[in-house]
Amino acid sequence: KKHIGILTAGGDSPGLNAAIRAIGKTALGSGRIQIVGFRDGFRGLMENRTMRLDWNVLASILTQGGTILGTSRDKPHKMPVGNEVMDMTQVICDNYRRHNLDALICIGGGGTQKNAYRLAQQGLNILTLPKTIDNDVGMTDVTFGFHTAMEIATEAIDRLHSTAHSHHRIIVVEIMGHNAGWLALGAGLAGGADVILIPEIPYDPIKVAQAIRERQQRGTNFSIVAVAEGAVSVDEYKILKRLRDQKAKAKENGDNKKAKQFSEELKSFESTLTNNTVRLTSQLEELTGLESRLTILGHLQRGGTPSAADRVLATKLGSACVEYFEEGIRGCMISVRGQGTEPIPLEEVIGKRHVVPADHCWIRAARNVNTCLGD
Ligand code: F6P
Repeated sequence: KKHIGILTAGGDSPGLNAAIRAIGKTALGSGRIQIVGFRDGFRGLMENRTMRLDWNVLASILTQGGTILGTSRDKPHKMPVGNEVMDMTQVICDNYRRHNLDALICIGGGGTQKNAYRLAQQGLNILTLPKTIDNDVGMTDVTFGFHTAMEIATEAIDRLHSTAHSHHRIIVVEIMGHNAGWLALGAGLAGGADVILIPEIPYDPIKVAQAIRERQQRGTNFSIVAVAEGAVSVDEYKILKRLRDQKAKAKENGDNKKAKQFSEELKSFESTLTNNTVRLTSQLEELTGLESRLTILGHLQRGGTPSAADRVLATKLGSACVEYFEEGIRGCMISVRGQGTEPIPLEEVIGKRHVVPADHCWIRAARNVNTCLGD
C-alpha cells in the first residue's frame, strides 16, 4: 500500500475537517492508500506527533469547524525550539521518510504553500490544498473558508444595521482579510454597507465623512462602514509605498544594511497601523457629528461550522487531491478552476498574492450601487 501524510497549517479556517475527511475517505476507500495525520502543522511532523485517521474518526467531522489535527504557524526552516528559532527542515525530512510516506498533503494558505514548496525542493513528494478565509492565495479562483467567513461577516453587518439605525450612529465594522479586501468587499456588498474600505484602494477620511454627510442630508442618520483590517488611508499608503520601494531598491543594490534598516522602519510603521479602525471611528465622529462605535469581528469569522458551499468545495478538492496523487501528480497545489480542479506547480503559486483587482466586477458593482469606497 501507499502512504499519505496530512497536516493543516496556518490560521484555521472552516472546511478543514471536510477536506481531511474527503482525503481520508477517498484514500481508505480505494483500498490502496493508508493515511496518517500530523498534529499542529509542520511542528507535529517535526516532533513526530501523529493522529490515527480511520473510518470512525473521519465519520463525524464534516460539519465541525476548526481542524481535528490542530494547526500552527510554525515554519520548518524557522521553528521555535526552546528559546531558539532553528531550521528543522532536515528533521522534518527524516520523519517523512521514517513514516515511509509517498506524499505529504499540506492544507493551508499562502505561507503554507511557500513552506510546502521548500519541502518539495528537498525532494519530498508534496501536494497542497488552498484554504484561508482571506481568499488571497494565487492561482486558484477561490480558497475554502472564505465563503463561510463572508456569511458570518454578512450576518454581523445585518445585525449591526438595526442597532445603528435605532441609535442614529455610524458603526465601523472591522473585517479580517490580512492584506486583501475580498472578505470586507464581499460581506460589505452582501450586507449593503454604505462605505467599504479595502487595502487595494487607499481611502481619504474626508471623502468617507462626505459620503456619510450626504446620507444625512437625504434624511438617513446612520451608516455602516465595513473596513478591511489591512485598509490604509492615502497618507499612510504613501509612507508604506516609500518604505517598500526603498527596501526593494536597497536589496536590488545588494545593500543589506540599508535593506534591513528600511525593513525595520517598515515594521515599526506597520505596527502603528493596528489601531487604524479606532482612529477612523473617532475621526468620523468628529467630521460628521454622528456618534460612532467600532465592532471588531475578529476570530468569530474563522469559527464554527462551514457553509454548504465550503463543505462542497473542501470535499471536491480533498477527493481530487487523492485522485491526482494516484495519477502520479506531485509538487502541486490543487486549485479551483471554474467548476473543476487543476493541479498547479507550487513554483507558480508561491509569491503570487491574490488581491482584489481595481477593475473587478465586485468593485464596479459597489460603485454602481452608490457605495463609498473612500477614493
Ligand atoms: O489568515 C487568516 C487570518 O484570520 C487573517 O485574516 C488575520 O489577519 C490573521 O489570520 C489573524 O491571525 P491570528 O489568528 O494568528 O491572530
